Amino acid sequence: MGVVVLGSINMDLTTYVPRLPAPGETLFGSSFITVPGGKGFNQAVAAGRLGAPTQFIGRIGDDTFGKGVLALVANEPVDISGILVDPDSGTGLAVISVDEAAENAIIVISGANMAHDGREVTRTRQALQPASVLLLQMESPLEISLAAAKAARDRSATVIFDPAPAQALPPEAYQLAHVMTPNELETEVLVGFRPTGQAEAAKAAEILLERGVDTAVIKLGAQGVYYQSSSDSGFVPPFRVNAIDTVAAGDAFNGGLAVALAEGRPLAEAIRWGAAAGALATTKPGASSAMPTRAELEALLAI
Ligand code: RIB
Repeated sequence: MGVVVLGSINMDLTTYVPRLPAPGETLFGSSFITVPGGKGFNQAVAAGRLGAPTQFIGRIGDDTFGKGVLALVANEPVDISGILVDPDSGTGLAVISVDEAAENAIIVISGANMAHDGREVTRTRQALQPASVLLLQMESPLEISLAAAKAARDRSATVIFDPAPAQALPPEAYQLAHVMTPNELETEVLVGFRPTGQAEAAKAAEILLERGVDTAVIKLGAQGVYYQSSSDSGFVPPFRVNAIDTVAAGDAFNGGLAVALAEGRPLAEAIRWGAAAGALATTKPGASSAMPTRAELEALLAI
């Protein structure tokens, strides 16, 4: 049992602004924070804080941002012994703006995250147990993630593939994913149309299932989540919270889903866990810093 996350780790440089700037415009922001992020690491922190034994496999540079990231992540309930320090690459960076409507814009400089090679596959394989859940995203080389997914399948582990940021995928990616969790934008890149409601989400899920995914989970943002497998389908309405910063809400969703599946919970319940974790992440500033605790999740699920 447990969660293994292979993916990106960044230093997030986040500004809070009244609105996202127009091209060529200079805006005054209200505040600035520096926190560890990266879709991979955020998902690992979510899984760890929600109570699963969690290992993160990734890479940073031997530089100031890398040292800063390592110092900050040491306090999280995540095994970070799988972070490799790469003398030839810079630590990943994300430059983020969040507006007063809680919306965000993110620019990622990948650095060491895109230098992953066979060493990440080896460390992932070593971390996996038969009942593990492996979480993958798209901020590190796809071929390395797919090799890790194969290793997970060989060990009878469950593969959750978060296709973020959006990119067209080869057929193998669908066949290796037990669960795929695109949002509306990512769904559009994968299937050619943006689902605006449950009926379109069902059509998109059908396409993902035909391509080989066992369970398609279509995140519709403020509208909720549609999910479909060969034996089950349903819709989870959104949890109502006071959102101030939507950065990493999708990562929290994946972390919550992974922990629930690792604990053997039924699919419908696991989707609720993901939705609740995602909602809670929007109530706090920052990326990994905003991931909810188990107590916060259980309190929201009980409402
Ligand atoms: O999903 C949010 C994350 O995307 C941020 O933490 C940033 O680092 C980028 O990877």
